Amino acid sequence: MLTTRLTERLGITHPIIQAPMANAAGGGLAAAVSRAGGLGFIGGGYGDREWIANEFLKVGNQPVGCGFITWTLEQDSRPLDETLERNPAAIFLSFGDPEPYVQRIKKSGALLICQVQTVKDARHAIDVGADVIVAQGAEAGGHGESRATMTLVPEVADMIAKVKEETLLVAAGGIGDGRGLAASLMLGADGVLVGTRFWASSEAQVHANMHRAAIAASGDDTLRTNVLDVVRNLDWAERYTARALKNMFSDKWHQNTDELKVAAPQVAEGWAAAWGTGDTEIANTIVGEVTGLISDIKPAAEIIETMVAEASDIISNKFRQNVKQK
Ligand SMILES: Cc1cc2nc3c(=O)[nH]c(=O)nc-3n(C[C@H](O)[C@H](O)[C@H](O)COP(=O)(O)O)c2cc1C
Repeated sequence: MLTTRLTERLGITHPIIQAPMANAAGGGLAAAVSRAGGLGFIGGGYGDREWIANEFLKVGNQPVGCGFITWTLEQDSRPLDETLERNPAAIFLSFGDPEPYVQRIKKSGALLICQVQTVKDARHAIDVGADVIVAQGAEAGGHGESRATMTLVPEVADMIAKVKEETLLVAAGGIGDGRGLAASLMLGADGVLVGTRFWASSEAQVHANMHRAAIAASGDDTLRTNVLDVVRNLDWAERYTARALKNMFSDKWHQNTDELKVAAPQVAEGWAAAWGTGDTEIANTIVGEVTGLISDIKPAAEIIETMVAEASDIISNKFRQNVKQK
């Protein structure tokens, strides 16, 4: 058992939060993670209201949260408002300014979790009222920025200690086993956010070909790119790129995104079809560097159990051979 401020404050058994991954994290995964003692999230992503409503029907009486890509709420905040009526345990906002949404989230009683990629944005999220800061490093799968988890987490921890000590800190990006969990706690985090490792679970909504591609891949086979957003005509700010597996599509377009913008109307349909059929040479498999540490697809509960057991072993010094103390 690993008891931290996060487990105590959220009333969960393990200091593990599952990332609200657009498309992949539905109600089945979120409920499985919460049932196993973590906190599960539905990936509300770009705000498909019907999809979110359906996924909430699958969670039963498990407490789960829901995540949103913050900048999409500027165009339409109904996905958030409807979600708040479902009494989520928490709302997870990432990629944009959380401030316009803080009051209604707090009023609903849901916990506010803000994922950030810089110390400056962490400070802003604290100032506007975030209960939990997720410091996300560039190793992460999906969208993110450029700071590394190894330095971002302790820098944010130091800042939190100075400005608002009661704010909880969660590390994200590259955490997929007990080593990552133990290391994150050493860096000053109260817990971890896990994306790619739960994406590679039996409950995730992922095409089997993509699972196979991720298992075969090394972290070396990933890149941060915006080709996925250009081809899907998604209006992401330039500062954010997405980490995914390299493939023929990214080989062709990653260095030529201006040309891809011109070609997108012709190319987009093929990319979307490839996503549906699991053609991993055209549609990009969205995973982080930690894909290189993943060799199987297993139930979320087993992932949590193994991570916690490994981390507890490390913390109680059974892995002493790595550190020779006199
Ligand atoms: C397939 C996939 C989809 C993701 N979608 C979202 C999303 O919709 N919203 C979000 O805030 N983060 C999203 N992320 C990023 C996660 O929140 C998290 O930061 C990341 O997965 C952590 O790094 P890891 O993948 O190494 O565990 C996604 C990540 C993956 C792998």
